[in-house]
This record gives sequence, structure tokens and C-alpha cells, in this order.
Amino acid sequence: MGKPPVWKSSLIILFNSIFEYDYTQCVSGLITNKYLHIVGILYAVPDLITNSLAKRCILETPLCRYIPEHEVYTINTQLPSGCEPIDKMLGGGFESGVITQIFGEAGSGKTNICLQLAVQCVRNGKKAVLIDTEAISPERFRQIAGEDAKEIAQNIIIYEPHDFEEQYAAVHEVEKICSENIGLIIVDSATSFYRFGLDDDETSIRNRRELANQIGYLHALARKYGLVVVITNQVYSDVNSGSHLPIGGTSLEHISKTIIQLERMESRAGKRRAKLWKHRSRPEGEICEFTITGEGIR
Ligand code: GTP
Ligand code: MG
Repeated sequence: MGKPPVWKSSLIILFNSIFEYDYTQCVSGLITNKYLHIVGILYAVPDLITNSLAKRCILETPLCRYIPEHEVYTINTQLPSGCEPIDKMLGGGFESGVITQIFGEAGSGKTNICLQLAVQCVRNGKKAVLIDTEAISPERFRQIAGEDAKEIAQNIIIYEPHDFEEQYAAVHEVEKICSENIGLIIVDSATSFYRFGLDDDETSIRNRRELANQIGYLHALARKYGLVVVITNQVYSDVNSGSHLPIGGTSLEHISKTIIQLERMESRAGKRRAKLWKHRSRPEGEICEFTITGEGIR
């Protein structure tokens, strides 16, 4: 609570186009109300808005959603990755306030996207947290970050857990710094330690519960602090369909509000395909192609 409001002039246009009246004035009144929240559509808390015209405006607008005060913490926005095809597929970028899951086979580009997002987050003036379970290449980071790699790296907080317990500790540790201008949390990969325990039934069940617990905790942080949270996930080959499916169970699927699948395109070097599996406000099944280049993903 208590973060300053973000205002987009397009909202005035939106209000004016919906209502017969000129609501510019009443919406302008809302700008100064610190409980105005924008999530592509407008979220607001009528209880806290004293201006009666403004209140009516919110309650009557079909594009506005009422959310109770206790659920309101921050302003939701999008973080563009700088990879145009992916950002376009996502309607602008990676949504804050929710978990985005990227899954795909080895080498499909998950880590590349994560690194580029972290760089973009810092360029946008916020810090990024990276929970790295797979030893990310510093050289690849330098290539993606470019000339100012050193300064950008200073704004990326890295945790390197070595097992599932340390991953749990890292996830819980992050909340201590969430209020310190953090814009992004990445867990790459969220399921590598989980995968190690899959052979044993008992460990597998326990780990599945634990994984859901960790991602649930991150989901709460995303909502509470308005963070972009991205987790990467590995795949298994489904024997019946022959396709690659995400591991981690259905609870991981439920809690991820955006799910992107990545695929290699063998015939074309560096080319990858991204498919939108799940999204709250975009058509599912949408596909785009992107390229892994020396400087990042394009
Ligand atoms: P796992 O972590 O193994 O599951 O893979 P991932 O999905 O995270 O893949 P990652 O993002 O690490 O992408 C690896 C791919 O990027 C490999 O196929 C590399 O060849 C490719 N790659 C890395 N650097 C470059 C580059 O400079 N140019 C091109 N064309 N490809 C690159
Ligand atoms: Mg990777």
C-alpha cells in the first residue's frame, strides 16, 4: 500500500469513449487518489474513493474491476523483454503481480529470455532478483547486457541454491528485500532440483507439494509488491503424444497465470518458436518466432 499512482493518459480517452459525459475531470481527481491501480484495465477500490462522481465512474465502467482494499498493494504494469515478437504476443510484456512460467526443452531459450528480462528491468530503473539453480553463464550475461554490463550486474541480486532446501530458503529470503525497489524475481530453473527427486515416489510427492508451496509464496510476493515473477520449467516427453509437456504438476500450471512454451526450430539456426499456452487476457495458442542472436533475443 501507499505507492504513488501511475497515470496513463490513454485512460482518460478510455473513460471518455465509454461515457457520454466528459469524465476527464473526475478521472483527473482520481489521479491524485493513491488507490488507483492500473492493470491494462483499471482496478480501483471504490470504498476508498470519496469523490462520488469518480466512484460512480468506476463502479459503472465494465472495464473496471472492483477489488477489496485488503487485496490492493501495488500498481500492476508490464515489463517488456525487448524481444518484440514475444512482447507483442504478451500484449506489451511480462505482467507484474502474477507468475509467468516459461517451459521448453533444453536449449530452447528460457535462460536467454530471463537474462534479457533482468537487463531490461534494471534499465527501467529497478533491481532484479535471480535465483539461479543452473549456473548461468557470466559471458552470456555480458553479451546480452552490452557495454554497461558491469553497472547492470550491480543491480541484479543473485542467489545460487545447491539443492531444493536452499531453493526454499532463497525464495523465502527474497521477501526481506522486496521493498527495496525490486521489479523482477526470476527462478531459473524452478524445477531442476525437483526433477532429481522424481524417481522415488515418496520424495516425489513431498517435492511436488514443496514446489507448489514455493511458487505459491512467490505468487503472494508478486501480488503484494507488484513484481514480475518468472519461473522456468523443464519438460518431459509424453509417450502417447510424443510432445514435450511441463513438469511440476497441475498446481504449478494453475498458479502460473501466463504460460509460454518454447520450441527449437531445428532447420533454422538460432530460431525459436514461442507459444502462449495460458494468459489471463490474451488469446491462447498464439505463436510467434524469435531469434537467439549474439546480443540476446530478437
Ligand atoms: P536449458 O537451461 O538447458 O533447459 O536451456 P534453455 O532453454 O535455458 O536455453 P538457453 O536460453 O540457455 O539457450 C541456449 C541456446 O542459446 C543454445 O542453443 C545456444 O546455442 C544459443 N545461444 C547462446 N548464445 C548464442 C549466440 O550468441 N548466438 C546464437 N545464435 N545462439 C546462441
Ligand atoms: Mg536454462
